[in-house]
Amino acid sequence: MATKRSGGSTSMSLSGLAAVRPARGSRVAAKRDAERPVMLITAGPTHEPIDAVRFIGNRSSGKLGAAVAAAAAEAGWRVLLLLGPVKIEPPKHRLIATHRFMTTADLEKLLGKHQADADALIMAAAVADFRPGAVAKGGKLRRTAKGLTLKLEPTPDLLAGCAKARARKHLQQVLVGFALEKREELEASAKGKLVRKGVDAVVANELETMEADTIRAKVFIADGSTEAPKGRLSKVEFAHWLVELTEALVVERALSASPCGCGEAH
Ligand code: CTP
Repeated sequence: MATKRSGGSTSMSLSGLAAVRPARGSRVAAKRDAERPVMLITAGPTHEPIDAVRFIGNRSSGKLGAAVAAAAAEAGWRVLLLLGPVKIEPPKHRLIATHRFMTTADLEKLLGKHQADADALIMAAAVADFRPGAVAKGGKLRRTAKGLTLKLEPTPDLLAGCAKARARKHLQQVLVGFALEKREELEASAKGKLVRKGVDAVVANELETMEADTIRAKVFIADGSTEAPKGRLSKVEFAHWLVELTEALVVERALSASPCGCGEAH
């Protein structure tokens, strides 16, 4: 299941990733864990409150992001999982720390707090595009014969915001977004999102992926190339594949940022 990129085109390994295999429970282990590369992963939907009991949301299950978190931890990354309001339990692993969010505003705050620590951000969360401008006062909206018109405002594009923050703060970091579209619109939409959001890669997958246990995906990369696993995979298999690809992108970015192309800062 190796990606073309991780199949040997780059010789540098992620700093410390393979070398650091700490003995469990020791203080040395804790110190070494802090030195591991960090993957920040967002997963699940946002819920935007209408009143005290109702919200605007979507059907994202968070399964794919959770699987990526588990796969990254197994591969030796330290993982920060930002998980929305979903039924699934976050994966349990010594290297995974989970923070919960409910709204786009919560997620924006968490990204602001953790983005700078990350070597890679995988933005699998299904962020609502619109939210009620104001939450109804007085608890709960009452039924009326007149019906109800909700006024919605656009949410900020969090991923595009992360790309801007990366540039502003000179962060050495890989940004990966997702595009969930009808098959006929997949490629054009993914390419558009790559440019519009200023990210390194967009994972394009078909609408049917939502709530399913399997995924058929193609990854569009900022250098114009594409990568795709063969056929339809379980979300767990795909997560391992995506972690490998992300690792290769992190290495490529580090190599291209160093003046000699050797990955060392001079
Ligand atoms: N995204 C985000 N902030 C938003 C909306 C989306 O960070 N307000 C991220 C998603 O997490 C995903 C990527 O952007 O990684 C694409 O999400 P999508 O909803 O498909 O894209 P939109 O920008 O909303 O574009 P459109 O609605 O036109 O398809």
